[in-house]
Amino acid sequence: MTQVAADDPHPAMEVVLARLARLRDQLDQLTREVRDPLAIRATAVALLHHKVPSVSWTGFYMRRGDELIVDAYQGPVACLVLPAHKGVCWAAMDRGQSLVVPDVNEFPGHIPCDSRTRSELVVPLFGTDGEPVGVLDIDSTRRARFGEAERAGYELVARYLEERGALGTSGGAP
Ligand code: SME
Repeated sequence: MTQVAADDPHPAMEVVLARLARLRDQLDQLTREVRDPLAIRATAVALLHHKVPSVSWTGFYMRRGDELIVDAYQGPVACLVLPAHKGVCWAAMDRGQSLVVPDVNEFPGHIPCDSRTRSELVVPLFGTDGEPVGVLDIDSTRRARFGEAERAGYELVARYLEERGALGTSGGAP
């Protein structure tokens, strides 16, 4: 097994993936008895934000019509509304793919909610019809904080939330 210091800024891919898989499993243990989707999302961002090092914001934006509206999050106060088809979150929605942005200043149309943000990872969340219904967005004040390992790791959490039916406003199977 690869040994790594807890504060190593560039741990190996398998270490990052294992950490996020553990957090996914912990989220399952914490929320197994709960059916409310917002309670599950709120617990997800609290867990991720406080257990993953060097992140400055972790949260959801959910699609309401032509806008993305901020949902459960942890970190500084963020933009409440992201107008259609602008910025990193909408780019991930429109492409239906996760986006790793090593330097937000080099992403045309990036929406700066916090001027200290340098890098960002956005993972789309898909409804039962296969269409994106929102995103999980993670920011860092470090340049290039996120890579392929983080993308794959946070996607594990996204797939868990979809399987739990945790993307709506009420209901959802336990
Ligand atoms: N930067 C995002 C907006 C959300 S904040 O990062 C919390 C974007 O360009 O879509």
